[in-house]
Amino acid sequence: VAQRLTSQSRKVIEMFHQQLVKDRMRAGLEAGLRSQGPFTIKMLPSFIFHKPNGKEHGKFLALDLGGTNFRALLVRFKKQKSRIYHKIYTIPLEIMQGTGEELFDHLAQCVCDFLDYMGVKNARLPTGFTFSFPCEQTAIDTGKLVTWTKGFNATDCEGHDVVGLLREAIKRRNDFDLDIVALINDTVGTMMSCAYEDPRCEIGLIAGTGTNLCYMEELKNNGKETDGETRRSNMCINTEWGGLGDDGSLDNIITAFDTEVDQNSVNPGKQRFEKLTSGMYLGEIVRQVLLDLTRRGLLFRGHISECLKKPGIFETRYLSQIESDHLALLQVRSVLQKLGLDSTCHDSIIVKQVCGAVSRRAAQLCGAGMAAVVDKIRQNRGLDHLNTTVGVDGALYKLHPHFSQILQETVKVLAPQCDVTFFPSEEGSGKGAALVAAVARQNQEIYL
Ligand code: BG6
Ligand code: GLC
Repeated sequence: VAQRLTSQSRKVIEMFHQQLVKDRMRAGLEAGLRSQGPFTIKMLPSFIFHKPNGKEHGKFLALDLGGTNFRALLVRFKKQKSRIYHKIYTIPLEIMQGTGEELFDHLAQCVCDFLDYMGVKNARLPTGFTFSFPCEQTAIDTGKLVTWTKGFNATDCEGHDVVGLLREAIKRRNDFDLDIVALINDTVGTMMSCAYEDPRCEIGLIAGTGTNLCYMEELKNNGKETDGETRRSNMCINTEWGGLGDDGSLDNIITAFDTEVDQNSVNPGKQRFEKLTSGMYLGEIVRQVLLDLTRRGLLFRGHISECLKKPGIFETRYLSQIESDHLALLQVRSVLQKLGLDSTCHDSIIVKQVCGAVSRRAAQLCGAGMAAVVDKIRQNRGLDHLNTTVGVDGALYKLHPHFSQILQETVKVLAPQCDVTFFPSEEGSGKGAALVAAVARQNQEIYL
Protein backbone atom coordinates (compact mmCIF):
# COMPACT_ATOMS: atom_id res chain seq x y z
CA VAL A 1 0.00 0.00 0.00
CA ALA A 2 2.82 2.34 0.98
CA GLN A 3 4.30 1.89 -2.49
CA ARG A 4 1.12 3.00 -4.20
CA LEU A 5 0.83 6.21 -2.25
CA THR A 6 2.66 9.17 -3.66
CA SER A 7 5.54 10.23 -1.44
CA GLN A 8 3.68 13.48 -0.76
CA SER A 9 0.58 11.86 0.69
CA ARG A 10 2.71 9.36 2.62
CA LYS A 11 4.47 12.27 4.29
CA VAL A 12 1.13 13.85 5.24
CA ILE A 13 -0.03 10.60 6.87
CA GLU A 14 3.29 10.18 8.68
CA MET A 15 3.10 13.75 9.95
CA PHE A 16 -0.46 13.15 11.18
CA HIS A 17 0.68 10.03 13.08
CA GLN A 18 3.67 11.78 14.62
CA GLN A 19 1.67 14.81 15.73
CA LEU A 20 -1.01 12.54 17.19
CA VAL A 21 1.59 10.58 19.18
CA LYS A 22 3.29 13.78 20.37
CA ASP A 23 -0.05 15.17 21.61
CA ARG A 24 -1.18 11.91 23.23
CA MET A 25 2.22 11.46 24.85
CA ARG A 26 2.10 14.96 26.32
CA ALA A 27 -1.41 14.40 27.68
CA GLY A 28 -0.34 10.99 29.05
CA LEU A 29 2.72 12.44 30.81
CA GLU A 30 0.59 15.12 32.49
CA ALA A 31 -2.15 12.68 33.53
CA GLY A 32 0.39 10.19 34.91
CA LEU A 33 2.18 12.90 36.90
CA ARG A 34 -0.95 14.24 38.54
CA SER A 35 -2.65 10.98 39.39
CA GLN A 36 -2.29 8.63 42.33
CA GLY A 37 -4.06 5.79 40.55
CA PRO A 38 -2.97 3.57 37.66
CA PHE A 39 -2.55 5.49 34.42
CA THR A 40 -1.32 4.26 31.05
CA ILE A 41 1.90 6.25 31.44
CA LYS A 42 2.85 5.39 34.98
CA MET A 43 5.32 8.23 35.73
CA LEU A 44 7.09 6.36 38.52
CA PRO A 45 9.17 8.28 41.07
CA SER A 46 12.76 7.05 41.13
CA PHE A 47 13.85 8.74 44.38
CA ILE A 48 16.87 10.06 42.53
CA PHE A 49 17.33 13.74 43.19
CA HIS A 50 20.94 14.24 42.18
CA LYS A 51 22.94 13.53 39.13
CA PRO A 52 26.52 12.37 39.76
CA ASN A 53 28.93 15.17 40.65
CA GLY A 54 32.20 13.44 39.80
CA LYS A 55 33.13 13.01 43.46
CA GLU A 56 31.89 9.41 43.59
CA HIS A 57 34.57 7.03 44.73
CA GLY A 58 34.98 3.45 45.83
CA LYS A 59 34.15 -0.04 44.67
CA PHE A 60 30.56 -1.02 43.85
CA LEU A 61 28.69 -3.98 42.50
CA ALA A 62 26.04 -3.44 39.83
CA LEU A 63 23.46 -6.00 38.74
CA ASP A 64 21.60 -5.36 35.53
CA LEU A 65 18.53 -7.33 34.49
CA GLY A 66 17.57 -5.78 31.18
CA GLY A 67 16.31 -7.40 28.00
CA THR A 68 17.55 -10.90 27.34
CA ASN A 69 20.66 -10.80 29.52
CA PHE A 70 21.69 -10.38 33.10
CA ARG A 71 24.96 -8.53 33.64
CA ALA A 72 27.01 -8.41 36.80
CA LEU A 73 29.58 -5.62 37.05
CA LEU A 74 32.26 -4.55 39.45
CA VAL A 75 32.81 -0.81 39.11
CA ARG A 76 35.50 1.27 40.70
CA PHE A 77 35.30 5.07 40.72
CA LYS A 78 38.36 7.12 41.38
CA LYS A 79 39.03 10.77 40.50
CA GLN A 80 36.30 11.03 37.84
CA LYS A 81 37.43 7.83 36.20
CA SER A 82 35.81 4.44 36.31
CA ARG A 83 37.10 0.95 35.82
CA ILE A 84 34.60 -1.78 35.01
CA TYR A 85 34.75 -5.57 35.00
CA HIS A 86 31.68 -7.45 33.92
CA LYS A 87 30.24 -10.79 32.96
CA ILE A 88 27.09 -11.50 30.94
CA TYR A 89 24.66 -14.30 31.77
CA THR A 90 21.75 -15.36 29.60
CA ILE A 91 18.30 -15.86 31.07
CA PRO A 92 16.71 -18.93 29.51
CA LEU A 93 13.07 -18.57 28.41
CA GLU A 94 11.92 -21.21 30.92
CA ILE A 95 13.42 -19.07 33.72
CA MET A 96 11.88 -15.84 32.35
CA GLN A 97 8.50 -17.51 32.38
CA GLY A 98 8.90 -19.93 35.32
CA THR A 99 8.40 -19.16 39.01
CA GLY A 100 9.70 -16.01 40.70
CA GLU A 101 11.74 -18.13 43.07
CA GLU A 102 13.49 -19.86 40.16
CA LEU A 103 14.21 -16.53 38.48
CA PHE A 104 15.72 -14.89 41.58
CA ASP A 105 17.61 -18.08 42.52
CA HIS A 106 19.09 -18.00 39.03
CA LEU A 107 20.14 -14.34 39.47
CA ALA A 108 21.70 -15.13 42.86
CA GLN A 109 23.57 -18.06 41.28
CA CYS A 110 24.96 -15.73 38.56
CA VAL A 111 26.01 -13.16 41.20
CA CYS A 112 27.74 -15.88 43.21
CA ASP A 113 29.63 -17.01 40.11
CA PHE A 114 30.68 -13.42 39.38
CA LEU A 115 31.85 -12.72 42.93
CA ASP A 116 33.89 -15.94 42.83
CA TYR A 117 35.31 -14.96 39.46
CA MET A 118 36.34 -11.51 40.75
CA GLY A 119 37.56 -12.86 44.08
CA VAL A 120 35.33 -10.56 46.18
CA LYS A 121 32.86 -13.03 47.65
CA ASN A 122 33.38 -11.91 51.24
CA ALA A 123 33.35 -8.16 50.60
CA ARG A 124 29.58 -7.38 51.07
CA LEU A 125 29.85 -4.65 48.45
CA PRO A 126 27.36 -1.77 48.18
CA THR A 127 25.19 -2.75 45.23
CA GLY A 128 23.01 -1.00 42.68
CA PHE A 129 20.34 -3.16 41.06
CA THR A 130 19.11 -2.18 37.60
CA PHE A 131 15.77 -3.87 37.13
CA SER A 132 14.34 -2.85 33.76
CA PHE A 133 10.65 -3.26 34.50
CA PRO A 134 8.09 -0.90 36.05
CA CYS A 135 8.52 -0.69 39.81
CA GLU A 136 6.49 1.39 42.22
CA GLN A 137 9.27 2.72 44.45
CA THR A 138 8.75 4.01 47.96
CA ALA A 139 12.45 4.62 48.55
CA ILE A 140 15.68 4.42 46.61
CA ASP A 141 16.19 0.77 47.64
CA THR A 142 12.61 -0.59 47.57
CA GLY A 143 10.16 -1.11 44.74
CA LYS A 144 7.22 -3.35 43.94
CA LEU A 145 7.05 -4.78 40.44
CA VAL A 146 3.87 -3.34 38.93
CA THR A 147 3.71 -5.67 35.95
CA TRP A 148 6.11 -7.71 33.83
CA THR A 149 6.88 -6.50 30.31
CA LYS A 150 9.08 -7.67 27.38
CA GLY A 151 8.16 -11.35 27.51
CA PHE A 152 9.01 -11.93 31.18
CA ASN A 153 6.21 -13.64 33.05
CA ALA A 154 7.65 -15.27 36.17
CA THR A 155 4.99 -16.03 38.76
CA ASP A 156 4.68 -14.46 42.24
CA CYS A 157 6.73 -11.35 41.45
CA GLU A 158 4.12 -8.75 40.50
CA GLY A 159 3.16 -6.75 43.57
CA HIS A 160 6.33 -7.82 45.43
CA ASP A 161 9.41 -5.82 46.34
CA VAL A 162 12.05 -7.06 43.90
CA VAL A 163 14.94 -6.07 46.19
CA GLY A 164 13.30 -8.23 48.87
CA LEU A 165 13.00 -11.10 46.38
CA LEU A 166 16.71 -10.85 45.56
CA ARG A 167 17.68 -10.62 49.24
CA GLU A 168 15.61 -13.72 50.02
CA ALA A 169 17.23 -15.66 47.17
CA ILE A 170 20.68 -14.70 48.51
CA LYS A 171 19.62 -15.74 52.00
CA ARG A 172 18.43 -19.13 50.71
CA ARG A 173 21.95 -19.82 49.45
CA ASN A 174 23.65 -18.47 52.53
CA ASP A 175 27.10 -18.31 50.92
CA PHE A 176 27.52 -14.55 50.27
CA ASP A 177 25.85 -11.28 51.16
CA LEU A 178 25.28 -7.93 49.43
CA ASP A 179 24.41 -4.47 50.69
CA ILE A 180 21.73 -3.51 48.13
CA VAL A 181 21.49 0.27 48.39
CA ALA A 182 19.69 1.22 45.19
CA LEU A 183 17.08 -0.07 42.78
CA ILE A 184 16.86 1.66 39.41
CA ASN A 185 15.29 1.36 35.99
CA ASP A 186 17.61 0.97 32.96
CA THR A 187 16.57 4.41 31.64
CA VAL A 188 17.69 5.93 34.94
CA GLY A 189 20.99 4.02 34.85
CA THR A 190 21.59 5.20 31.30
CA MET A 191 20.85 8.82 32.20
CA MET A 192 23.13 8.63 35.24
CA SER A 193 26.04 7.08 33.40
CA CYS A 194 25.80 9.65 30.60
CA ALA A 195 25.40 12.50 33.11
CA TYR A 196 28.73 11.41 34.59
CA GLU A 197 30.31 12.41 31.25
CA ASP A 198 27.99 15.28 30.26
CA PRO A 199 26.35 17.25 33.09
CA ARG A 200 23.66 18.54 30.71
CA CYS A 201 22.24 15.01 30.43
CA GLU A 202 18.80 14.99 32.07
CA ILE A 203 16.95 12.40 29.99
CA GLY A 204 17.53 8.65 29.60
CA LEU A 205 16.13 6.76 26.61
CA ILE A 206 16.10 3.04 25.87
CA ALA A 207 15.30 1.86 22.34
CA GLY A 208 16.05 -1.83 22.54
CA THR A 209 14.07 -4.97 23.31
CA GLY A 210 11.62 -2.57 24.99
CA THR A 211 11.36 1.19 24.97
CA ASN A 212 11.18 3.68 27.81
CA LEU A 213 12.30 7.13 28.92
CA CYS A 214 13.10 8.92 32.17
CA TYR A 215 13.81 12.60 32.76
CA MET A 216 14.41 15.09 35.57
CA GLU A 217 11.03 16.57 36.51
CA GLU A 218 10.24 19.42 38.85
CA LEU A 219 8.84 18.01 42.10
CA LYS A 220 6.12 20.65 42.25
CA ASN A 221 4.57 19.03 39.14
CA ASN A 222 4.49 15.60 40.72
CA GLY A 223 1.19 14.79 42.42
CA LYS A 224 2.44 11.51 43.88
CA GLU A 225 3.41 10.71 47.45
CA THR A 226 7.16 10.91 47.86
CA ASP A 227 7.23 11.03 51.65
CA GLY A 228 7.58 14.71 52.35
CA GLU A 229 10.52 15.24 50.02
CA THR A 230 10.26 19.02 50.16
CA ARG A 231 13.92 19.91 50.50
CA ARG A 232 14.62 18.91 46.87
CA SER A 233 13.31 20.55 43.71
CA ASN A 234 13.81 17.86 41.03
CA MET A 235 13.39 14.15 40.82
CA CYS A 236 14.05 11.69 38.04
CA ILE A 237 10.76 10.18 36.81
CA ASN A 238 10.63 6.82 35.06
CA THR A 239 7.80 7.46 32.60
CA GLU A 240 7.19 3.84 31.42
CA TRP A 241 6.00 5.46 28.20
CA GLY A 242 5.64 2.03 26.56
CA GLY A 243 2.14 1.91 28.09
CA LEU A 244 0.87 4.82 25.99
CA GLY A 245 -2.20 3.65 24.08
CA ASP A 246 -3.30 0.98 26.58
CA ASP A 247 -6.52 3.00 26.97
CA GLY A 248 -7.18 2.99 23.21
CA SER A 249 -5.66 6.43 22.61
CA LEU A 250 -3.49 5.12 19.74
CA ASP A 251 -6.25 3.11 18.05
CA ASN A 252 -6.33 5.56 15.12
CA ILE A 253 -2.85 4.54 14.05
CA ILE A 254 -2.81 0.87 15.06
CA THR A 255 -2.95 -1.53 12.08
CA ALA A 256 -4.35 -5.06 11.82
CA PHE A 257 -0.74 -6.32 11.89
CA ASP A 258 -0.10 -4.54 15.20
CA THR A 259 -3.27 -6.02 16.65
CA GLU A 260 -2.19 -9.52 15.63
CA VAL A 261 1.23 -9.02 17.27
CA ASP A 262 -0.43 -7.69 20.43
CA GLN A 263 -2.90 -10.58 20.62
CA ASN A 264 -0.10 -13.16 20.24
CA SER A 265 2.03 -11.58 22.98
CA VAL A 266 2.18 -12.64 26.65
CA ASN A 267 0.52 -9.35 27.67
CA PRO A 268 -2.29 -8.55 25.18
CA GLY A 269 -3.68 -5.03 25.43
CA LYS A 270 -0.64 -3.78 27.32
CA GLN A 271 2.43 -1.78 26.26
CA ARG A 272 0.82 -0.72 22.97
CA PHE A 273 3.34 2.08 22.24
CA GLU A 274 6.21 -0.30 23.06
CA LYS A 275 4.74 -2.83 20.63
CA LEU A 276 4.87 -0.25 17.80
CA THR A 277 8.38 0.94 18.50
CA SER A 278 10.69 -1.60 20.10
CA GLY A 279 12.99 -4.38 18.97
CA MET A 280 11.07 -7.23 20.53
CA TYR A 281 8.05 -6.55 18.32
CA LEU A 282 9.26 -4.97 15.05
CA GLY A 283 10.31 -8.31 13.57
CA GLU A 284 6.93 -9.76 14.46
CA ILE A 285 5.13 -6.89 12.71
CA VAL A 286 7.30 -7.52 9.64
CA ARG A 287 6.42 -11.22 9.78
CA GLN A 288 2.69 -10.44 9.92
CA VAL A 289 2.97 -8.16 6.87
CA LEU A 290 4.94 -10.81 4.97
CA LEU A 291 2.37 -13.47 5.87
CA ASP A 292 -0.36 -11.22 4.51
CA LEU A 293 1.51 -10.45 1.28
CA THR A 294 2.24 -14.14 0.78
CA ARG A 295 -1.40 -15.11 1.36
CA ARG A 296 -2.32 -12.61 -1.34
CA GLY A 297 0.19 -14.24 -3.70
CA LEU A 298 2.50 -11.19 -3.82
CA LEU A 299 5.50 -12.84 -2.14
CA PHE A 300 7.34 -16.16 -1.99
CA ARG A 301 5.23 -17.40 -4.93
CA GLY A 302 2.25 -17.50 -2.60
CA HIS A 303 3.79 -20.28 -0.52
CA ILE A 304 3.75 -19.84 3.30
CA SER A 305 6.77 -21.79 4.53
CA GLU A 306 6.99 -23.38 7.97
CA CYS A 307 9.71 -20.82 8.82
CA LEU A 308 7.48 -17.85 8.10
CA LYS A 309 4.90 -19.34 10.46
CA LYS A 310 7.42 -19.30 13.32
CA PRO A 311 6.99 -16.38 15.74
CA GLY A 312 10.21 -14.57 16.55
CA ILE A 313 12.26 -15.47 13.45
CA PHE A 314 12.96 -11.82 12.62
CA GLU A 315 15.15 -10.71 15.49
CA THR A 316 16.22 -7.04 15.54
CA ARG A 317 19.72 -7.94 14.41
CA TYR A 318 18.30 -9.47 11.18
CA LEU A 319 16.20 -6.37 10.54
CA SER A 320 19.36 -4.31 10.95
CA GLN A 321 21.24 -6.52 8.50
CA ILE A 322 18.45 -6.55 5.91
CA GLU A 323 18.15 -2.76 6.02
CA SER A 324 21.86 -2.07 5.84
CA ASP A 325 22.70 0.15 2.87
CA HIS A 326 25.91 -1.77 2.36
CA LEU A 327 24.16 -5.05 1.71
CA ALA A 328 23.63 -6.00 -1.92
CA LEU A 329 20.35 -7.71 -2.75
CA LEU A 330 22.14 -11.00 -3.10
CA GLN A 331 23.25 -10.67 0.53
CA VAL A 332 19.70 -9.80 1.63
CA ARG A 333 18.66 -13.03 -0.04
CA SER A 334 21.31 -14.92 1.87
CA VAL A 335 20.11 -13.44 5.20
CA LEU A 336 16.59 -14.58 4.31
CA GLN A 337 18.01 -17.96 3.34
CA LYS A 338 19.61 -18.22 6.79
CA LEU A 339 16.17 -17.63 8.27
CA GLY A 340 14.89 -20.48 6.11
CA LEU A 341 13.07 -18.18 3.66
CA ASP A 342 13.70 -19.09 0.06
CA SER A 343 13.35 -15.83 -1.85
CA THR A 344 13.68 -14.50 -5.36
CA CYS A 345 15.41 -11.21 -6.02
CA HIS A 346 12.00 -9.53 -6.27
CA ASP A 347 10.97 -11.05 -2.91
CA SER A 348 14.03 -9.64 -1.21
CA ILE A 349 13.30 -6.14 -2.52
CA ILE A 350 9.82 -6.33 -1.02
CA VAL A 351 11.05 -7.74 2.31
CA LYS A 352 13.59 -4.94 2.54
CA GLN A 353 10.86 -2.35 1.88
CA VAL A 354 8.58 -3.85 4.52
CA CYS A 355 11.40 -3.84 7.10
CA GLY A 356 12.15 -0.21 6.17
CA ALA A 357 8.53 0.89 6.58
CA VAL A 358 8.14 -0.82 9.96
CA SER A 359 11.38 0.49 11.47
CA ARG A 360 10.86 3.96 10.01
CA ARG A 361 7.47 4.20 11.67
CA ALA A 362 9.00 3.00 14.96
CA ALA A 363 11.73 5.65 14.85
CA GLN A 364 9.27 8.40 13.95
CA LEU A 365 6.87 7.50 16.75
CA CYS A 366 9.71 7.26 19.25
CA GLY A 367 10.91 10.68 18.04
CA ALA A 368 7.39 12.06 18.46
CA GLY A 369 7.33 10.84 22.07
CA MET A 370 10.73 12.42 22.68
CA ALA A 371 9.53 15.71 21.15
CA ALA A 372 6.66 15.75 23.69
CA VAL A 373 9.12 15.29 26.57
CA VAL A 374 11.65 17.94 25.55
CA ASP A 375 8.90 20.47 24.85
CA LYS A 376 7.47 19.75 28.28
CA ILE A 377 10.85 20.32 29.95
CA ARG A 378 11.24 23.57 27.98
CA GLN A 379 7.81 24.81 29.03
CA ASN A 380 8.36 23.71 32.65
CA ARG A 381 11.24 26.16 32.72
CA GLY A 382 9.47 28.90 30.80
CA LEU A 383 12.18 28.88 28.11
CA ASP A 384 11.93 29.90 24.45
CA HIS A 385 14.75 27.56 23.66
CA LEU A 386 16.06 24.43 25.39
CA ASN A 387 19.48 22.84 25.03
CA THR A 388 19.52 19.37 26.45
CA THR A 389 21.22 15.97 26.29
CA VAL A 390 19.69 12.51 26.17
CA GLY A 391 21.64 9.46 27.30
CA VAL A 392 20.56 6.58 25.10
CA ASP A 393 21.00 2.84 24.94
CA GLY A 394 19.47 -0.24 23.35
CA ALA A 395 20.25 -2.41 20.35
CA LEU A 396 17.68 -0.75 18.11
CA TYR A 397 19.23 2.68 18.60
CA LYS A 398 22.82 1.51 18.46
CA LEU A 399 22.78 -1.20 15.83
CA HIS A 400 19.98 -0.40 13.40
CA PRO A 401 21.34 1.45 10.35
CA HIS A 402 18.65 4.17 10.18
CA PHE A 403 16.68 4.22 13.44
CA SER A 404 18.78 6.80 15.29
CA GLN A 405 18.90 9.23 12.39
CA ILE A 406 15.16 9.13 11.72
CA LEU A 407 14.47 9.52 15.44
CA GLN A 408 16.68 12.61 15.63
CA GLU A 409 15.23 14.16 12.48
CA THR A 410 11.72 13.68 13.85
CA VAL A 411 12.60 15.40 17.14
CA LYS A 412 14.03 18.36 15.20
CA VAL A 413 10.86 18.77 13.15
CA LEU A 414 8.39 18.28 16.01
CA ALA A 415 10.27 20.22 18.69
CA PRO A 416 11.94 23.05 16.74
CA GLN A 417 12.56 25.08 19.91
CA CYS A 418 14.73 22.35 21.41
CA ASP A 419 18.31 21.43 20.60
CA VAL A 420 18.66 17.81 21.62
CA THR A 421 22.02 16.04 21.71
CA PHE A 422 21.93 12.25 21.79
CA PHE A 423 24.70 10.66 23.81
CA PRO A 424 24.95 6.87 23.30
CA SER A 425 25.77 5.12 26.54
CA GLU A 426 29.08 3.28 26.45
CA GLU A 427 28.73 1.03 29.43
CA GLY A 428 25.04 0.26 29.62
CA SER A 429 22.97 1.10 32.62
CA GLY A 430 25.06 -1.04 34.98
CA LYS A 431 27.60 1.73 35.44
CA GLY A 432 24.65 4.03 36.23
CA ALA A 433 23.49 1.60 38.92
CA ALA A 434 26.94 1.71 40.49
CA LEU A 435 26.87 5.51 40.34
CA VAL A 436 23.48 5.61 42.01
CA ALA A 437 24.80 3.29 44.70
CA ALA A 438 27.69 5.71 45.16
CA VAL A 439 25.39 8.75 45.27
CA ALA A 440 23.08 6.96 47.73
CA ARG A 441 26.11 6.21 49.88
CA GLN A 442 27.27 9.85 49.79
CA ASN A 443 23.83 11.10 50.74
CA GLN A 444 23.54 8.58 53.52
CA GLU A 445 26.76 10.03 54.93
CA ILE A 446 25.44 13.56 54.48
CA TYR A 447 21.93 13.15 55.85
CA LEU A 448 22.31 10.64 58.64
C1 BG6 B 1 21.85 -2.17 28.25
C2 BG6 B 1 21.45 -1.92 29.66
O1 BG6 B 1 23.02 -1.58 27.91
O2 BG6 B 1 20.80 -1.75 27.43
C3 BG6 B 1 20.21 -2.73 29.98
O3 BG6 B 1 22.49 -2.12 30.54
C4 BG6 B 1 19.14 -2.33 29.05
O4 BG6 B 1 19.82 -2.63 31.29
C5 BG6 B 1 19.63 -2.51 27.68
O5 BG6 B 1 17.93 -2.99 29.30
C6 BG6 B 1 18.64 -2.28 26.60
O6 BG6 B 1 19.13 -3.01 25.58
P1 BG6 B 1 18.45 -4.22 24.80
O7 BG6 B 1 18.65 -3.80 23.40
O8 BG6 B 1 19.19 -5.46 25.17
O9 BG6 B 1 17.02 -4.26 25.26
C1 GLC C 1 10.06 -2.05 29.22
C2 GLC C 1 10.06 -1.90 30.73
C3 GLC C 1 10.81 -0.66 31.16
C4 GLC C 1 12.18 -0.65 30.52
C5 GLC C 1 12.07 -0.79 29.01
C6 GLC C 1 13.42 -0.80 28.32
O1 GLC C 1 9.28 -1.04 28.69
O2 GLC C 1 8.73 -1.86 31.22
O3 GLC C 1 10.92 -0.60 32.55
O4 GLC C 1 12.84 0.54 30.86
O5 GLC C 1 11.37 -1.98 28.69
O6 GLC C 1 14.21 -1.84 28.72
